[in-house]
Amino acid sequence: MSVVIRGIGELVTGDPAAGDGALGVLRDAAVVFDGGRVAWVGPSGDAPAADEAVDAGGRCVLPGFVDSHAHLVFAGDRADEFAARMTGRPYAAGGIRTTVAATRAASDDVLRGNLRRLVAEMARQGTTTVECKSGYGLTVEQEARCVRIAAEVTGEVTFLGAHVVPPEYDGDPGGYVRLVSGAMVAACAPHARWIDVFCERGAFDAAQARTVLAAGAAAGLVPRVHANQLGPGPGVRLAVEAGAASADHCTFLDDADVDALASSPTVATLLPAVEFSTRQPYPDARRLLDAGAAVALATDCNPGSGYSSSMAFCVALAVREMGMSPAEAVLAATAGGARALRRADVGRLSPGARADAQLLDAPGHIHLAYRPGVPLTAAVWKDGVRQV
Ligand code: NIG
Ligand code: FE
Repeated sequence: MSVVIRGIGELVTGDPAAGDGALGVLRDAAVVFDGGRVAWVGPSGDAPAADEAVDAGGRCVLPGFVDSHAHLVFAGDRADEFAARMTGRPYAAGGIRTTVAATRAASDDVLRGNLRRLVAEMARQGTTTVECKSGYGLTVEQEARCVRIAAEVTGEVTFLGAHVVPPEYDGDPGGYVRLVSGAMVAACAPHARWIDVFCERGAFDAAQARTVLAAGAAAGLVPRVHANQLGPGPGVRLAVEAGAASADHCTFLDDADVDALASSPTVATLLPAVEFSTRQPYPDARRLLDAGAAVALATDCNPGSGYSSSMAFCVALAVREMGMSPAEAVLAATAGGARALRRADVGRLSPGARADAQLLDAPGHIHLAYRPGVPLTAAVWKDGVRQV
């Protein structure tokens, strides 16, 4: 089944060689999907025929968002915790235990239903690739269950047994690190691609994080790190040292952290919906970009620190609060996320890429930041098949 979308006012290819600027923009353009891939892009008038034709009516088509950081396998919510934060209580990692208790008590079907609801909610908002972490089970059986359920909806599954120390290991964090690095990684690695650790005061220190990442790597998992979210710390440098695909959050960085990111392939993944929901300062995207670091934007969708599934919201925050231009933010939400997941086949719309795209009810990508809170995604294709 092939599809041609004609009459595209602004086609964001994400390939600077294919069009104008860093976004590789083509005007009055068309794109053809065939066999789940982008088969052709070019002037609308030259577009070849296909089984199905769509008229974009001068609107914008861009790659589907690549949300490279989300925690979607959980039960319950923490709306009360959010409300308390808005009246001044600070965010603390300890709230994770509330969700751990609810998740452990939930059936597979409850977890699966919540996960699928969130993935569908993301799809309606233009997200076509999503990474999904475990981290609310924190026993061998519960973490294995969470990665197994996550793998039902995405190939980008991350084992996050080292999210926090669960209550039964109070006073024995070393024992929990040994469990994560031993039986837990062995049970989870077959269902995951990535290993993550929350390296932060109140969670895991550098030595513990290093142990966990090394065990993951030995089991074939590639590292990514929750780093420098709640304060300065060793997370970013640890991520770079471990060859992590991504250091996520990057809210409190010193010059050495910025230099380390700029001189490494590790992507700085910024999660501004978390700062919105925790009243923390926003990460300084401008400083990272000016230093030459690769930057991605992602939602971090989770019931605690930030429960937004909207990449468009993250784009708007990045532009309004973090010094990114609309083009930089859209690139970070598409090609940047792809890079953070080491994927060359998504986050761009040039021949050979996956046919993962969205049509906006707007003439151009700037409207994603210019019209915050407005559901602009009018249609979504994944692997060339219309989803929304
Ligand atoms: O990325 N920082 C650690 N983990 C999540 C929060 C999880 C939670 O609060 O439930 C995050 O912000
Ligand atoms: Fe997270």
